[in-house]
Amino acid sequence: MPGTRGPVPVPVQNGDRDLTLQILEAVDENASVKTSETFPNASQTEVKAALDRLASRQMIEYETDDSEEVVLTGEGQQIVDEGSHEFKVWDAVRKAGRMSLKDQALATPSAKVGQGNAFKLKWIKKDGDSLIPLTDSVTDTTREVLQYVAEHRALQNPRDLKDLRKRTLVTTQKIITYDARKGPRWARDIPVEVTDLTADMLADGSWKTANFKPYNFKALGEQSQGVGALHPLNKVREEFRKIFFNLGFTEMPTGRFVDTGFWNFDALFVPQQHPARDMQDTFYVSDPPEAGPPGPDPEADAALNAMEEEDRDEEDSDPPTRPTQQPTKHLDYAQYYANVRATHQDGAFGSIGYRYPYNDAEPRRLVLRTHTTAVSTYCLHRLAANPRPAKYFSIDRVFRNETVDATHLAEFHQVEGVIADYGLTLGGLQGFLRRFFKKMGLVGLKFKPAYNPYTEPSMEVFAYHRGLGKLVEIGNSGMFRPEMLLAMGLPEDLRVYGFGLSLERPTMIKYGVNNIRELLGHKVDLGFIEGNAAVRLDKA
Ligand code: PHE
Repeated sequence: MPGTRGPVPVPVQNGDRDLTLQILEAVDENASVKTSETFPNASQTEVKAALDRLASRQMIEYETDDSEEVVLTGEGQQIVDEGSHEFKVWDAVRKAGRMSLKDQALATPSAKVGQGNAFKLKWIKKDGDSLIPLTDSVTDTTREVLQYVAEHRALQNPRDLKDLRKRTLVTTQKIITYDARKGPRWARDIPVEVTDLTADMLADGSWKTANFKPYNFKALGEQSQGVGALHPLNKVREEFRKIFFNLGFTEMPTGRFVDTGFWNFDALFVPQQHPARDMQDTFYVSDPPEAGPPGPDPEADAALNAMEEEDRDEEDSDPPTRPTQQPTKHLDYAQYYANVRATHQDGAFGSIGYRYPYNDAEPRRLVLRTHTTAVSTYCLHRLAANPRPAKYFSIDRVFRNETVDATHLAEFHQVEGVIADYGLTLGGLQGFLRRFFKKMGLVGLKFKPAYNPYTEPSMEVFAYHRGLGKLVEIGNSGMFRPEMLLAMGLPEDLRVYGFGLSLERPTMIKYGVNNIRELLGHKVDLGFIEGNAAVRLDKA
């Protein structure tokens, strides 16, 4: 049976037969069935469960009747079986003809009651110290009334009830009886109701004829249903975004996970033979086999235009970096490509170049971007249309062909910022990074000279981690090389800072996660995601 789960009928045993089926049979044969009469020996709960099972499918309808019935006590039953106490006394006296008042048979409490009643009824009388019968035949009314109760569970004359109760021959009991009849979806058999639509049912077509259980919209449902929860990475991301927005940054459009070798590597002066370009470090996309020449990305441009427009409207944005509208130069992507190519191969814009024959296939290769600097590069080139001070940031996913271990995944998130302004200095970058990381509670920054093909000088950023009691690397930074910016057409005195860090590292520190696989991927415990408080980066 495909996809049946949940409340399929569970047979209720009544004797050897299923009570649900017995009810169906009875309702089929009678216009109306009183369960107390038809199933006098079945338990009330079982009867009710069976009725509800059928009524929920609208196969039957029923009403509940509360009533009272009269039932015999043990003593009452004994009278039905043997005759009343007065009858038994009269009978014994009649058979003996004369019975001494001291006779053992008259000594029991019930015989005493019977003797009294038999006197009243004039069935016997005292004769000296003996009893003698007054009649040869009697009508045992008490027994007859009780026989009627045994048969009908009621009294012919309701006035007898008080008396019989006092004599503890009968009691009353409440009975619930159900009055059942056919319902709008009457059927002789219980159809199996399907509660889940499964892939198998779709594949074999059985969904077309399946008898689906209707939704019960009146069900109260569960008390606390789990609602969506932000992943810790998203919480930390939101904190970073707020910091960037407060510092007057504009968010870059980072939707393009697949980018070209040009934006990801060549434009950044990553040598064409650089180990990072190797298949071992970069995921290349094989289909389509190659991209066209570098050109504008209309979607990204529209998104960035909209965001810059929004920032211009903001009253409190930083005056020096407020983008000023100037006549926009046409962006010549072919010229830009030629500049990048020439700088790699022969040197240009003050650079001696790498002096290797430039391979035009490399910039056309499609890659899963290995850093968001590919996006920053696109945005910086776009800035050459209207060179001006600008601050951009992005927080999004990047991919690297790494061996997965406790601290590395093949994909992670980068937080990246670029600042373009006139007359920037290295000290200014250090000052900015101190202010930026202070907002995250990281102080006592240390800088270590490093190497990036696209920045000079480059610095790794370290901060003292109180929990670990040592300096930990928190980011990478530098000033973009002039040959990279000049090739874009940016003016000579416009300098650009760049810095990047992973989103995962501060999140792991914040949430006490030691294994990155517990933070991202299929091993993540949903309870961890749902149970974590919103993050507040410690302000120093
Ligand atoms: N792209 C660098 C990285 O992946 C970060 C960076 C960005 C460094 C911009 C300098 C300038 O680590």
